[in-house]
Amino acid sequence: MHTKDIQMLQLIQQNGPRSVVAHRGASGYLPEHTLEAYTLAHAQGADYIEPDVILTRDNVLVCLHDLALETTTDAATRFPERKRPDGHWYTIDFTLAELKQLRVFGRVKAGERDTMQGYQIATLDELVLLVQRLNKALSRKTALLIETKDPEWHVKQGKPLEPVLLQTLAKHKVDTPSSGYIIQSFDDAHLKRLRDVHQLHLPLMWLTGELPGVDKVDGIKAWAYGINPHRSAIEDEGKPNSEGLAVLEKMHSRGMKMFVWTFNDEPDVFRRFLDRYSVDGVITNNPDAGVRAVSAGRKAK
Ligand code: G3P
Ligand code: CA
Repeated sequence: MHTKDIQMLQLIQQNGPRSVVAHRGASGYLPEHTLEAYTLAHAQGADYIEPDVILTRDNVLVCLHDLALETTTDAATRFPERKRPDGHWYTIDFTLAELKQLRVFGRVKAGERDTMQGYQIATLDELVLLVQRLNKALSRKTALLIETKDPEWHVKQGKPLEPVLLQTLAKHKVDTPSSGYIIQSFDDAHLKRLRDVHQLHLPLMWLTGELPGVDKVDGIKAWAYGINPHRSAIEDEGKPNSEGLAVLEKMHSRGMKMFVWTFNDEPDVFRRFLDRYSVDGVITNNPDAGVRAVSAGRKAK
């Protein structure tokens, strides 16, 4: 590594605690975005649980990654006539009562789908209540890192998701920073709207495949708490990415946070990202492995 990179790493390593984010729940073990996967993530010690949220026809936010249902549920066989001309079954065309009839099998191979029985689509409401109950029972402070899925597409369908998100957060009193909740999205215009038009006072994190240049950090800080890039922005094929580390250093100097996605059970990789590069959070399908890595880092200090 270049001397410049080493100096930069020494600077950014002075940062605060590391967070483990359960990507779509403990999705490395159970079907993503089900209450079972969220419960396991909480039990494994995740600091945050990450639901992706999409609107239903009757304006309820449900926890799903894909706009279309057929990849992770049995919508195609249960409601064959509800396919749109483009060949997909869209969440936004179904009421919550209809969606609750679907069986979620997640992303297992087609031959293994029958082994996934009893899993249902969850609502954001149900997830918030679940985490509040578990936090109270176990004296924990797990929060949600909510990803709004494709806000622009929702607008084009005539159903913006922002008002429902605001109502849901307010209903459960998790719409202020003391809740620990964070909103993330790939759509920066939507995040700015949440802040400036809807007056949402939760921290906002901008998701991005590639990091913007160092010169953009101050502008982004004006509206964002952090930037959450794909892991290749920090380490590419096992090598530190100097440009990404320079952005991370500048973000830390401005008090911003960076959570990086997506990790599996990769102990050595976790240690590099957490202890060497000092990212603020790892977004992982295997929260237990992330928790072990954070704890090993603490013991090593
Ligand atoms: O949390 C980051 C990550 O979830 C973004 O990608 O496609 O898994 O929602 P995706
Ligand atoms: Ca996500």
